[in-house]
Amino acid sequence: MPSAKLQVPRGTFDVLPEDGQRRRELTCSAGATLALAGYGVLETPVFEDTELFARGVGESTDIVRKEMFTFEDKGGRSLTLRPEGTAGVCRAYVEHGMHKLPQPVKVWYSGPFFRHETPQAGRYRQFTQIGAEALGSDDPALDAELILLLREILAPADTRLRLSSLGNSETRGAYGEELRSYIRGHESKVSEEVRARIEQNPLRAFDSDHPGTREVMAGAPRLIDRLDPEDAEHFADVRALLDEVGCEYELDPALVRGLDYYTRTVFEFESPSLGAQSGVGGGGRYDGLVGQLGGPPTPGVGWAAGVERILLASPEIENEADLRRIYVVVPAPEKRAEAFRLTQTLRARGVAAEMETAGRSVKGQMKQADRVGATAAVIVGDELEVRNMLSGEQKVVKGIEDILTPV
Ligand code: HAM
Repeated sequence: MPSAKLQVPRGTFDVLPEDGQRRRELTCSAGATLALAGYGVLETPVFEDTELFARGVGESTDIVRKEMFTFEDKGGRSLTLRPEGTAGVCRAYVEHGMHKLPQPVKVWYSGPFFRHETPQAGRYRQFTQIGAEALGSDDPALDAELILLLREILAPADTRLRLSSLGNSETRGAYGEELRSYIRGHESKVSEEVRARIEQNPLRAFDSDHPGTREVMAGAPRLIDRLDPEDAEHFADVRALLDEVGCEYELDPALVRGLDYYTRTVFEFESPSLGAQSGVGGGGRYDGLVGQLGGPPTPGVGWAAGVERILLASPEIENEADLRRIYVVVPAPEKRAEAFRLTQTLRARGVAAEMETAGRSVKGQMKQADRVGATAAVIVGDELEVRNMLSGEQKVVKGIEDILTPV
């Protein structure tokens, strides 16, 4: 029987070098931005006890109900590939007693996450997030700071910011009842799915693209009008701080995030260029999560953004030509050792240098130099010659110093 062609699993992809470079640069510059604001790196495992996500992300969410990659290990423990990073960060905060450190504890992370979703453009089963979290303070300045950091990291992408507040669990509970009875009053118009979930999560009805449901929800009561005075003041402060620095946002009372842990501020950056999967990055406050996971009552706020979606929403910026990328041409086999040594010397001097290793003719090597984007080719013949790949000018040089001064 012929064996099936081996391919990447559905919803996953290989990152090829060209794209890999852009991804690395994005993560590095995000890390630099976050470090300037005092965020340290925190790495948590790619898989955790299933219970962490069931308790942290919420039993009623799509993520926990149908999107987790869950498996049993050899000891019969149920483990899950992390679908998001906040629950793991909170677990680590509790596990390492970080509440004893000076607060807030500010961390960031990047790495692979896994959700068993139906793949489409911008939606994968393995994707990469950059995320940041600040635990141990409910100061609205942290909400505002985190929003501004995400805005800066997303700057090359074309995005708009939606902002709202979900209040606390009491006001949300009371509002949930009000919303349930409102939806029940219009039951015949809403979608089957919304009807089936009125009890469990009526808020999700705001998320529906079903025309009847949308019409009904346009007239629905809004949580943002039901916030208690403290939450309303907290939200007003977040907004005032964003206004202070001229950060534009759109108030969206129907903003729904797909995770259950949020309280107070929620936000999302969307890109019109992404189509259906328009969320590039988002987050909010989760003041009850650490407590829910067995830690001391600890406020928290954070966000995560998808690397793939950021790059999809960002124009490709042509890298400026590296003035010193050199291709070392080997015109004859007996020159190979000398060329090898020269290549090593160039690299040791901080110059990007590559040497011919595919046995091409000199003409073929020049073509290759062009392909790799070399700005100069050094021909290691009886004499050392340098060719400026941009102008085509070629001249004999005495030694490495002449190579390092651009011709
Ligand atoms: P999230 O909105 O579920 O939030 O995911 C954050 C970002 O991850 C999304 O905006 C999107 O760019 C990317 N993303 C999510 N699912 C996929 C997918 N299937 N394929 C490609 N990209 C995807 C969270 O995960 C929260 N932990 C954010 C947070 C941190 N809230 C507070 N702190």
